[in-house]
Amino acid sequence: MKYKSQKVAYWFFALSLLLLTLQIVYGFVMGFARVGMDGLHEFVPFNTARAVHTNLLVVWLLSGFMGAAYYIIPEEAQRELVSVKLAYVQLITLALVGVVAIIGFHFNIWEGRKFLEIPRPLDYLVVINVLLFLGIILVTLFKGKRRTTTALVLSMGLFFAALLYLPGMITFDSQTMDSFFRWWVVHLWVEGVWELIMGGILSFLLIKLTGVDREVIEKWLYVIVGLTFLSGVLGTGHHYYYIGVNKIWIIVGGIFSALEPLAFLAMALFAVNMYRKGEKKHPNKLALYWTLGAAIVSFVGAGLLGFAHTLPQTNIYTHGTLVTAMHGHLAFWGAYAMIVFAIISYSLPNMTGRKLYESAIGRAAFWLSNIGMVGMTVAFGVAGVVQVYMERKLKMNFMEVQQEIEIHFIVLIICATIFATGITLFIIDFIKHGTPTDEALESNN
Ligand code: HEM
Ligand code: HEM
Ligand SMILES: [Fe+2]
Repeated sequence: MKYKSQKVAYWFFALSLLLLTLQIVYGFVMGFARVGMDGLHEFVPFNTARAVHTNLLVVWLLSGFMGAAYYIIPEEAQRELVSVKLAYVQLITLALVGVVAIIGFHFNIWEGRKFLEIPRPLDYLVVINVLLFLGIILVTLFKGKRRTTTALVLSMGLFFAALLYLPGMITFDSQTMDSFFRWWVVHLWVEGVWELIMGGILSFLLIKLTGVDREVIEKWLYVIVGLTFLSGVLGTGHHYYYIGVNKIWIIVGGIFSALEPLAFLAMALFAVNMYRKGEKKHPNKLALYWTLGAAIVSFVGAGLLGFAHTLPQTNIYTHGTLVTAMHGHLAFWGAYAMIVFAIISYSLPNMTGRKLYESAIGRAAFWLSNIGMVGMTVAFGVAGVVQVYMERKLKMNFMEVQQEIEIHFIVLIICATIFATGITLFIIDFIKHGTPTDEALESNN
């Protein structure tokens, strides 16, 4: 059963892809600056490009999650969204806040706290926006006919993600305190509540795409939620090793963060097992690719590459180097970008009525973007290891080292071009589907 109000999701996905495109542009600006081609320096210096790049990432992923919720909740709760008009208001204000923040960054209006650079007054608008979003989702859920585990885990993730935005808004004079609470947002998002959002979307997609019973799939979801909380909360300690807090965090952070890959492993095993068990009848193979891809690549990017620098003995060398950027790219891509692409690929044909499942463009988009991103990860990784060795072992000067590793950024740019080609094809495929129609949603019973 489909619901007309689900089509709001389409516009959140469109905004998402637009901001992703911008994010990639700023990625290239940094990539080229790294090899000495820094012609835009006057207007977009490296630090501005970096803040824009990472904040756009967060906003487009949030827009994607919101789109996912607007699509999934009506279907799970078996009723229309309580207000489509307010959902559009929420979309437009989200886009406005994002655009104003990004423009402000170019005029040095920001707070120097990585990932949370949005200035305080805009933070309040973000809070209002997210409250409106949660209101629409939660009221729909509670007025609905059903309250499924999938819908509850998804909404719980979204609710706690909103709540955890608040610790990032407290002001401290102490750098240590500021850093301590910044991680409540950044770490507890990506290694905590966003995993619930991912788990919820993954569960919805696996139910639809594999045909395995909801009971079986939702049992796995409990395991994933359990493992996430068990490891992720105290795992925050892996950011506290050397920031000036109590040394107990070296042990606590080391042990619990080392357990974090288990949640991602469970997600990968979950997806692959459900696929094996399933009837494999659903015609939307592209959505299946992105779904299984998200589960597997997130295990590599977050689980394995996260583990690679999470022990205090390693992190003392790798902290804040390009090793972190290596992990950051594949983790964000695998876990959150790919799950957003999965829900887009699944829902788009249902919303527009155009079932372009077997398109060569769609397949090429999947492979090129993934191959490109793996290449970028390797380039960052090699640059990072060389940086660690020269800077932290040989004690070479920071800038000298940056010069030595320039060559790896040429490789990065080449791989990023392959990646960007894949994304372009994905967007072409998205546009080819056209816009959503009531008829398509009605005929999809
Ligand atoms: C999808 C999940 C994940 C995402 C999106 C992600 C992303 C990131 C990003 C962007 C950073 C840099 C943050 C900053 O400096 O502000 C980071 C740092 C870090 N991540 Fe992850 N991560 C994930 C999961 C994990 C897991 C499961 C582990 C451990 C097993 C891990 C270990 C680390 C460590 C140790 C750092 C600190 C690096 C440093 O000291 O510079 N991450 N992560
Ligand atoms: C054309 C594609 C891209 C290029 C050329 C690119 C390049 C870069 C560069 C050069 C940096 C700064 C590293 C440094 O500090 O020196 C960076 C940071 C970052 N990028 Fe990208 N990027 C691209 C796409 C993406 C995508 C698609 C994602 C997410 C899925 C992403 C996530 C990040 C993150 C999380 C950071 C911060 C890492 C950290 O804190 O260490 N980037 N990117
Ligand atoms: Fe973390």
